Amino acid sequence: MNLYEKSIEVILANQHQSGAYIACPIFPNYRYCWLRDGSFIAYAMDLSGNHSSAGKFYRWVGRVIDRYSEKVTILASQLQNGQKPDPTGILNTRFTLEGYEEADQGWGNFQVDGYGSWLWGLAEHINITKDHTLLAELAEAITTTIEYLKLVWGLPNYDCWEEHPEYLHPYSLSTTVGGLAAINSLRLQGLINIPELEIEQLIGTIKQTMVEKAVVDGRFIKHIQVGQPTQKLPPQILNGPDASLLGIAVPYGVFPIQDETMSATVEAIEKELWLAGGGVYRYQGDVYYGGGEWILLSAWLGWYYCRAGEPAKAQQLRGWIESTANENGELPEQVCENPLAPKEKPVWLDKWGPVASPLLWSHAMYIILVNEIEKATNHAGATLPGIGGPGR
Ligand code: BGC
Repeated sequence: MNLYEKSIEVILANQHQSGAYIACPIFPNYRYCWLRDGSFIAYAMDLSGNHSSAGKFYRWVGRVIDRYSEKVTILASQLQNGQKPDPTGILNTRFTLEGYEEADQGWGNFQVDGYGSWLWGLAEHINITKDHTLLAELAEAITTTIEYLKLVWGLPNYDCWEEHPEYLHPYSLSTTVGGLAAINSLRLQGLINIPELEIEQLIGTIKQTMVEKAVVDGRFIKHIQVGQPTQKLPPQILNGPDASLLGIAVPYGVFPIQDETMSATVEAIEKELWLAGGGVYRYQGDVYYGGGEWILLSAWLGWYYCRAGEPAKAQQLRGWIESTANENGELPEQVCENPLAPKEKPVWLDKWGPVASPLLWSHAMYIILVNEIEKATNHAGATLPGIGGPGR
């Protein structure tokens, strides 16, 4: 079985009957479903023709959001009255597979990005499947999400690596813009009946914030400082590149690939985060498991290259990803053979055991990359080896 088929198999085998995708079945801390991981996984399922799996996931998200929508009403009135919102009054980043908040509230659950991501993924699902009934079913959850994003997009929250909760993050802002724009386009086509909610103004405001606050030396930065954080980040971290910034252009389309700031950002990612002949680091200064090369980010850079008309570089990254699969064809979260902070690696191994594998998000990004390479190179309609056959 090739890695493409294996990736589909890993994802389907680890989708709970509820529709939730577990982040990793064997890593204790990852036995939950994240909206962030899940949205990319569902997108990969759509690209590989497994639409019912993706649909089940979006229905699961809809049920979760409906279950906790009361929190958004309370949050709105707290913010309106100038009260500091209760830290548990936000919508969580991850849930049990049955769709409930976890009992232990110790995880940094205030992460805004997944709420933009699911709107983006859902819109892609609808564009691909034309399942307008599902859209109607989810109208309330979509409306709640938009109302929630309006309230929280500008509040400091954890980034997509679940760090630095005292800052704002250009990646997270881009998910909000991308998700809102994708849903708004369905609304403008008359495909969904939701209130107007001033979505366009909101998109404009967030984009303006990015232009004004997220650019230093002509590139997008990792974090935006708001107020006076108790944990001050050094400028090289604050302003440095982070591979997740690729998302600003692909897939969220906040700024086009040709945008000068975007190209300068990708140049910095290539220079500072792409190991020659290897994979892509999250950011300089990463210590998690010593800070290794991430499979999903390597695929993400390849995805970007396909859209930028550079599929040869994407092929190179694909080759590296394939070399990281274990003998069962499983992809880990990261490979720590060339860590940025070698001393930190044993600390995490002692604390949480071996690196998470198989990570469903890694498999999903590989599926996305293979599809993108095919699109970028296959003008004659031939099928690339390793893709096609059953499951597609
Ligand atoms: C990553 C998150 C991810 C989670 C589950 C964390 O280590 O930083 O981005 O959502 O794992 O895969």
